[in-house]
Amino acid sequence: MNAPAPALILDAVSKEFAQRRSLFGRPAAPVRAVDTVSFVVNPGETLGLVGESGCGKSTLARMILRMTRPTTGHVLVEGKRVDALLPSEVLAYRRQIQMIFQDPYASLNPRIRAGDLIGEPMAIHGLARGAELETRVADLAAQVGLSAAMLGRYPHEFSGGQRQRIAIARALAVSPRIIVADEPVSALDVSVRAQVLNLMADLQTSRGLSYVFISHDIGTVAYLSHRVAVMYLGAIVEIGPARDVLRRPRHPYTRLLLEAVPVAHPRLRVRRREVLPGEVPNGVGLGAGCRFAPRCPMAQERCRVEAPTPRAIDGTRLVACHFAEDTPDLPKGLAA
Ligand SMILES: Nc1ncnc2c1ncn2[C@@H]1O[C@H](COP(=O)(O)OP(=O)(O)O)[C@@H](O)[C@H]1O
Ligand code: SF4
Ligand SMILES: [Mg+2]
Repeated sequence: MNAPAPALILDAVSKEFAQRRSLFGRPAAPVRAVDTVSFVVNPGETLGLVGESGCGKSTLARMILRMTRPTTGHVLVEGKRVDALLPSEVLAYRRQIQMIFQDPYASLNPRIRAGDLIGEPMAIHGLARGAELETRVADLAAQVGLSAAMLGRYPHEFSGGQRQRIAIARALAVSPRIIVADEPVSALDVSVRAQVLNLMADLQTSRGLSYVFISHDIGTVAYLSHRVAVMYLGAIVEIGPARDVLRRPRHPYTRLLLEAVPVAHPRLRVRRREVLPGEVPNGVGLGAGCRFAPRCPMAQERCRVEAPTPRAIDGTRLVACHFAEDTPDLPKGLAA
């Protein structure tokens, strides 16, 4: 049997932003926010995308969602290049893929009641109206754990977790195949994060959804992901099955991310420290060598002159490091 076609394909996607020109001196080189990112997401699969703030995660999400165009490379949703959709195909594309944002309060119109927020996408896409629309809204609300009595309330009358449930119901309203969730639990109280993540996991199972799950927190990513991609300064430095990447990281950066979180819950860890040692550079004027060399505890002379290209390690993953085989295993008890 042939493997199912990927739901989402990123083919060497890059994004550059022009820098503001200073009054004096030479024009500034553009910032490469996303640098030649390639991956696939299969039907029903969660790809977790993790990396520190500023590494390009949201820019990548925005390109997948067609909110900004790649400078080079292509995004394909259900086999179609999203930069080359015909006007007649755009509506169908918008039903195939939906987004959940970090801050549900900012993404929900405060003057619209919850029931209308959930029903609006169905109305816009002409999927239901009248009594049928009402039934479907109540049904969706129940699926995300909101009671019918709550549908007449406005966003400010809900807790952060409930607002995110509204946003999830709204995203599901058009029956998408893929959901891109950009830091969906980062703004929530730690106590409700697991509930929202569990809801997302249940919905994935019942609906066969594909997720691109984005977080700066590797513990949160570990919770849902089947595969994990680790991003550093716009590029994926390690990608592979979650078990392998989280238990036995082969890129020194992945290892540092995992070392920086203590074990609180075996699969949902709480951050110990927000940042790793060293400055986070911004992708301007990356030199010839490895982008991680200035912060890498394993850096050698070769790393400063030759950029590592991603290569297969252990048969299951790609790692962009000359010395991936030498990365020490995590201390006992730290592996996810
Ligand atoms: N519209 C923009 N114009 C210029 N630079 C941008 C823009 N959007 C993002 N950037 C830059 O691109 C890099 C990646 O940002 P972003 O994708 O938001 O990262 P993340 O979501 O991982 O925190 C950052 O250096 C950021 O300053
Ligand atoms: S190539 Fe060198 S600098 Fe880059 S991650 Fe590997 S060891 Fe570190
Ligand atoms: Mg972001």
